[in-house]
Amino acid sequence: MEKTLVLIKPDAFGKNHAGDILKIYEDAGFKIIAAKVMRMTAELAAKHYVEHIGRPYYPALVEFMTSAPIMALVLSGDDVIKKVRELNGATNPAEAAEGTVRKLYAADKTKNAVHASDSEASAAREIPIFFSACEIFD
Ligand code: PPS
Repeated sequence: MEKTLVLIKPDAFGKNHAGDILKIYEDAGFKIIAAKVMRMTAELAAKHYVEHIGRPYYPALVEFMTSAPIMALVLSGDDVIKKVRELNGATNPAEAAEGTVRKLYAADKTKNAVHASDSEASAAREIPIFFSACEIFD
């Protein structure tokens, strides 16, 4: 079964929207096969966002992602990578479709509620940054 990494970011988690967001994924038929509440460190951010290091928004992104707890998840299901990105909506919530997680819960391109892997290669790279094999129930 295909797997994807989702992060419920400090904005959405801090506003108690984790349950609302999990319901959107579960109602779409996806299984939660790993989950933890944690604080992202700068070292973890540098691993996860390696391709963004050096971009103008990177310092603000790290400051935000390390500011408060996040919830990390692994979801599984048919075509879960593409479908969860559709459920999340566009990176910029101003461009996100009605009913998507970002339209409902995000403020801007940095405080945008959720992250989800964008490809099979990204999911394979990102999942082990947050979970060991024995924490994933697939
Ligand atoms: S982009 O615009 O194509 O680079 O967007 P994307 O590759 O999907 O994800 C970029 C991640 O960086 C976060 N971020 C920003 N992106 C673009 N512009 C600004 N100003 C910015 N600030 C933060 C954005 O939230 C994406 O985070 P993730 O966690 O991957 O969704």
